Amino acid sequence: MQNVNLLGNLAELHAKCFPHKPWSAADFADLQKSGCEIIASQNGFIVYRATCDEAEIITIGVAPDARRGGIGAAMLGIIEGDLKKRGVKHIFLEVAADNAPARSLYQNNGYKEIGVRPKYYDGTDAIMMRKDI
Ligand SMILES: CC(C)(COP(=O)(O)OP(=O)(O)OC[C@H]1O[C@@H](n2cnc3c(N)ncnc32)[C@H](O)[C@@H]1OP(=O)(O)O)[C@@H](O)C(=O)NCCC(=O)NCCS
Repeated sequence: MQNVNLLGNLAELHAKCFPHKPWSAADFADLQKSGCEIIASQNGFIVYRATCDEAEIITIGVAPDARRGGIGAAMLGIIEGDLKKRGVKHIFLEVAADNAPARSLYQNNGYKEIGVRPKYYDGTDAIMMRKDI
């Protein structure tokens, strides 16, 4: 029951961060079942998955009225510390080419561009990024 409430809150927060593509509590439950890990607070969340020495950031979001307060960078730091302890060496992610705030967040936290998937998100390119930790 507790997990259901938490996932419901997470779905509400996700809808604030991604109003055009909200995920439901069931979507988050499916992510957990598929091995994803979720760190969330009242104003931010990050979803990631580790396999052997690699990890992938599935998504990250911070409530609009809490942005530019360091929450996004702090969450990247938390998962990096956790993943390092578990032997992960590389973190990958994809970000829409037109998402300037997210690209800036990743670049300023040590992620490097390693490729492009053309027209990956409804006609917008996806930039592939990697950080070696
Ligand atoms: C991307 C996002 C998670 C950033 O979260 P945040 O808590 O605001 O980020 P931080 O405050 O930790 O910012 C860290 C750095 O990221 C960069 N950054 C963050 N927002 C930015 C913006 N609007 N414009 C330019 N740079 C930005 C800056 O370098 C910033 O450092 P600074 O504040 O010292 O200049 C947030 O904007 C968000 O939720 N966006 C909508 C969801 C989304 O697009 N997620 C990414 C999907 S790949």
